[in-house]
Amino acid sequence: MRILKLAVLISGNGTNLQALIDACAAPDFPAEIALVISNRPDAYGLERAEKAGIKAITIDHKSFDDRESFEDSVHEALTEAKVQLVCLAGFMRILTATFVRRWQDRLINIHPSLLPAYKGLNTYERAIEDGVRFAGCTVHYVRPDVDTGPIIIQAAVPVLSDDDPDSLAARILPQEHIIYPEAVCLIASSKARVRGHKVIIDDMPVPSGAYIAPVPKK
Ligand code: GAR
Repeated sequence: MRILKLAVLISGNGTNLQALIDACAAPDFPAEIALVISNRPDAYGLERAEKAGIKAITIDHKSFDDRESFEDSVHEALTEAKVQLVCLAGFMRILTATFVRRWQDRLINIHPSLLPAYKGLNTYERAIEDGVRFAGCTVHYVRPDVDTGPIIIQAAVPVLSDDDPDSLAARILPQEHIIYPEAVCLIASSKARVRGHKVIIDDMPVPSGAYIAPVPKK
């Protein structure tokens, strides 16, 4: 079995990193995490990686003069570790078009909304404010514009009338932990292919790449 070498880029808690660590621990999972990079030295995700015996480094953006030199350093670490797929998991730095193009179709992200709705920050607040009935999360290939790129998998959850941003986030996060490893698995097993601005998924039961979480019982 081909084992795809991953890097996971984080800035904080790293629960999505943990989901990927746990998935990679299964003997039949077609990927392994070769490197974790945090741009913040205090990110709890670094401890998660260390506990799992995974190489974890901090590349602190504050110690670079500009975005380009920070990204050069990240690129060098990824190349040295022979990384084949970069997974952004709560990595809260905007990447330049140069970096994104260097890793074109080898760079994916998880975002807490049903893209293309609610790009950027405060996704839960904005969804509640708009009164939408469904919210969710998306794993997508990264393109130069923020939170843009071919969609691999989405999970939808209901928005309840008494939701606040915390309760909605708490309903979405477990779905992130399901779809991120699933997306990596699809890529690693060559079942997801980028065609134009879309991702085509082979060998998946209908509906491919779509998960709907049940309405929670009160
Ligand atoms: C996740 O909800 C992820 O979708 C979001 O940050 C959180 C990180 O949590 N990412 C973004 O908002 C990126 N635009 P984690 O550190 O526990 O994985």
